[in-house]
Amino acid sequence: MTDLDWAAMADVLELEGEAHQPYVQQALAELAQLEPQRIMDVGSGPGVAACQLAAAFPEAEVTAVDGSPELLARAEQRAERLGVELRTRVAEFPDGLGELGTADLIWTAQAVHHVGDQQDALNRLARLLTPGGVLAVVEGGLPARWLPHDLGFGRPGLQTRIDAAMSERFNQMRAELPGSVATVETWADMLRTAGLDGTRSRTFLVDRPAPLADGARRWLRGTVERYRHGLQDHLDAEDLATLDRLLDPADPLGLDQRPDVFLLTAKTVHFGRKPS
Ligand SMILES: C[S@@+](CC[C@H](N)C(=O)[O-])C[C@H]1O[C@@H](n2cnc3c(N)ncnc32)[C@H](O)[C@@H]1O
Repeated sequence: MTDLDWAAMADVLELEGEAHQPYVQQALAELAQLEPQRIMDVGSGPGVAACQLAAAFPEAEVTAVDGSPELLARAEQRAERLGVELRTRVAEFPDGLGELGTADLIWTAQAVHHVGDQQDALNRLARLLTPGGVLAVVEGGLPARWLPHDLGFGRPGLQTRIDAAMSERFNQMRAELPGSVATVETWADMLRTAGLDGTRSRTFLVDRPAPLADGARRWLRGTVERYRHGLQDHLDAEDLATLDRLLDPADPLGLDQRPDVFLLTAKTVHFGRKPS
């Protein structure tokens, strides 16, 4: 595994997938005309989208592919719970991508940016497609918002400072990946370079108004806990104190209790089709 302890993030990844399910549903509606026989979700994590794919295309053989056996075990449990058919396959990216066999639809969400040479990863994924097959790559979109600009204490604009700090962390993560290559991240062009046609990018809204439901609120708490520990050296003392207060279960203005917590974000899906 490359840069992060993915298995340790299983709970938060599954809650994140569930909180963001509406965008996957909207993206799958774009693919409703397809009749794929083999589908892969590459970098599936705990399999939330893979299970959505299996439900949307019940005739297809759907495989969740990931480098983490622990996350794939979660995907299997989830599929069983939801009553959908799902296979799993452990593969390390990029080297394992060539051995996955062919597919008529490949979905890959927030995984390609964990490979040093993103264009090479897309080239390898495109090679797996059958003629007429579709690659759907989720990358980019907009950072999430979950509280007002002035949340009632601390310096207003906390989330824009978190965004800036996370962007620095992201740059550092990418720079440290094996074989890291800087790329102009115009994903539709990158899909064209990979030999795909009709490339287009569509952005889908995730709009969960306040008060946020329990599962999404638990995802947010887990995410803010990661910011609190991971951004210690990137945020100032006042912002760290604000995060502490947000994480205090006894504080009426903390994330667990306040009624005004929402989730608003947008995810971009880049589509390309292998020429027939
Ligand atoms: C940010 S998570 C995305 C999970 C899911 N697709 C989603 O959108 O919620 C990235 C996933 O890619 C997997 N991954 C990251 N780098 C990998 C690598 N080099 N080889 C195999 N899997 C990798 C991780 O295990 C993790 O499940």
